[in-house]
Amino acid sequence: MAADVASQASDIMALTGAGSVPLHVAIIMDGNGRWAKARGQMRTMGHKAGVGALRRTIRAAGDLGVTHMTVFAFSTENWRRPAAEVSDLMGLLRTFIESDLAKLAKEGVCVRIIGQQDGLPKDIVECVRKAHDDTRHNSRFFLQVALNYGAQADVVEAAKRFAAKVQAGEANIEDLTPEMFGGLLSTHDLPPLDLMIRTSGEHRLSNFLLWEAAYAEFVFQDVLWPDYDRVHLEDALKIFAERDRRFGAVEAGHVSA
Ligand code: IPE
Ligand code: IPE
Ligand code: MG
Repeated sequence: MAADVASQASDIMALTGAGSVPLHVAIIMDGNGRWAKARGQMRTMGHKAGVGALRRTIRAAGDLGVTHMTVFAFSTENWRRPAAEVSDLMGLLRTFIESDLAKLAKEGVCVRIIGQQDGLPKDIVECVRKAHDDTRHNSRFFLQVALNYGAQADVVEAAKRFAAKVQAGEANIEDLTPEMFGGLLSTHDLPPLDLMIRTSGEHRLSNFLLWEAAYAEFVFQDVLWPDYDRVHLEDALKIFAERDRRFGAVEAGHVSA
């Protein structure tokens, strides 16, 4: 970690106080197409620049004390885009996993990819398997990439898994709790989601982490994803630190009647 980065991190810590850095941050990386359009370029150029932003953000997140990050790379609805764009996106994801995997593995990053493998090109499924295998013992930073992911489908899969357990006599319907159900989702390995960021000025979840976002703080930033940089993440962390998370209780210091 460079000295300036270390001092930025300590600035954030001083500003926020220990414990107010979110452990788990999710990002809906949006705005690649508009970024390219503004430059008179093909949408693919925006996606390409978006990979650079992802690299910067992973590094910045680690430097700033975030330990878990889930990024939305491709939704189950993104298949509705023109075939050429889908194929370019898959190509970029393949290149990202292949070219960055060794570096991430060396830096102690555990890479997990969530989403449906059905429908993905065979070689991408192989990349996903290799990413899991090569990094599964790492624990310095957890990077979860949502690829061909849709939260509703994930919840349905969890429901099917539970139904199968009931059918096999391994579980009782009455015993199902939210915690148990959450444990059946593809995100079960990560801590609760603290902060959800969406770039490009859109204010919606687009079928991302519906269950996990129950008590997450939301920060919407106008910046288009390819322009996302350390300063934007710092801004989001500062906003998060100022939020009063009550989880349904009353604020600290409140005197009850
Ligand atoms: C996000 O950027 C990347 C993916 C959805 C894969 P978009 O491609 O959605 O960019 P806009 O929203 O059209 O600007
Ligand atoms: C959500 O963005 C998916 C990803 C960022 C991968 P979209 O751009 O696909 O979402 P909508 O269509 O604007 O809701
Ligand atoms: Mg978009």
